[in-house]
Amino acid sequence: MSVNRSVNFTGIEFQNPFLLSSAPPTESESNILRAFEAGWGGVVTKTIGLHPVVNVVGAKAKFLRTSPEDAYVSMKKRPGAALHSSWNWELISDKVLDWWLPRIRRIKEAFPDRVLIASIMAGSGNDKELQNWQRLARECQDAGADGLELNFSCPHMDRRDMGSNIGKDEGLCSVVTEAVKEVARVPVWCKLTPATAEIEVEAGACFRGGADAIVSSNTFPSIPLIDPDTLEFEINVDGFVSSGGLGGPAILPLSLAKMAQMTRAFPDKSFSGIGGVSDFRQALSYILLGCGTVQVCTAAMLDQAIGPNVIKRLLAGLDQFLERHAAEGWTRVEDFRGIRRDRIVAQSDIRRPDAAEYHSGYEVSEGYAGAEL
Ligand SMILES: Cc1cc2nc3c(=O)[nH]c(=O)nc-3n(C[C@H](O)[C@H](O)[C@H](O)COP(=O)(O)O)c2cc1C
Repeated sequence: MSVNRSVNFTGIEFQNPFLLSSAPPTESESNILRAFEAGWGGVVTKTIGLHPVVNVVGAKAKFLRTSPEDAYVSMKKRPGAALHSSWNWELISDKVLDWWLPRIRRIKEAFPDRVLIASIMAGSGNDKELQNWQRLARECQDAGADGLELNFSCPHMDRRDMGSNIGKDEGLCSVVTEAVKEVARVPVWCKLTPATAEIEVEAGACFRGGADAIVSSNTFPSIPLIDPDTLEFEINVDGFVSSGGLGGPAILPLSLAKMAQMTRAFPDKSFSGIGGVSDFRQALSYILLGCGTVQVCTAAMLDQAIGPNVIKRLLAGLDQFLERHAAEGWTRVEDFRGIRRDRIVAQSDIRRPDAAEYHSGYEVSEGYAGAEL
């Protein structure tokens, strides 16, 4: 049986289920063209807004590494250390909508068979802001974007009605999604922040607003370490730092947990997994939990800016996996998507040496306890 890499996700046909996520790898036309040449099935543009942004002085992103002998985690470069995570406080694209529109058009002309999703972001505090979302949505889809990803997850926003502050508020999640759906002719994905207690609550609110898919995770809120010699944060401006976002290998299990909460709550809905993916092994975990596509940022940033080797590994891994499982009749991602979702159960449902001895943290029933005490 021949392997089939293609997937249909929210009605969009992808040559393969692997996308570059909204981040530096997708911040320019040349990067996106290179990404398609390298074989990515799709890209999500760096988030597009209506107003220019001004980033902090100095580095916007750094990488943390850990040493095998003592598990020291630090941004300091040293031989033999392995990647732990990325840390960033980069805002959305510093190029505004009018800069992006002709580029979206040209990219789609050059690669009509690849998927280009426009990530967009505005405020949400009043009708004018909701109209800004609608304008961004309309103009990106008119330029040829195949879908829209609503950024409800940027962790660096001071504004209470923007970025991850939308993703932390069920009401705003519903209202903004609904406003965009009113004008959208293409599928609408909502990218949620992992910085909430029960992410399925916000996912449910997005679905009520009409979302076609949920995307997760954006980076996790985090601050850099303090250098033990200088007593300064490893990244700072004039000694000051603000909360930034952690990505890469360190967030993989955290992000999988967030994703599992949602795919279990909404087994029939569509999900795109992000967080700590650098080859097929990690992508597979997201797919087995129910994701139809998988996105990559940190690993691609470290591989010639757009991940030519990462996509090669993802595709080779998928092909080998399908070949290995040909006997089970699996020929495409849909054949094994979600098959481990139901293996996540309550603690009390996990087998233990003596089930009668475990009472889920409650006191044992009175008569029984009385006999023991
Ligand atoms: C420097 C940097 C900039 C990012 N900018 C955006 C952005 O503009 N919009 C967005 O939705 N996510 C943004 N992200 C988040 C990534 O798309 C991704 O969700 C996150 O890094 C987790 O994936 P990873 O573990 O593969 O890095 C950014 C991440 C980094 C490291």
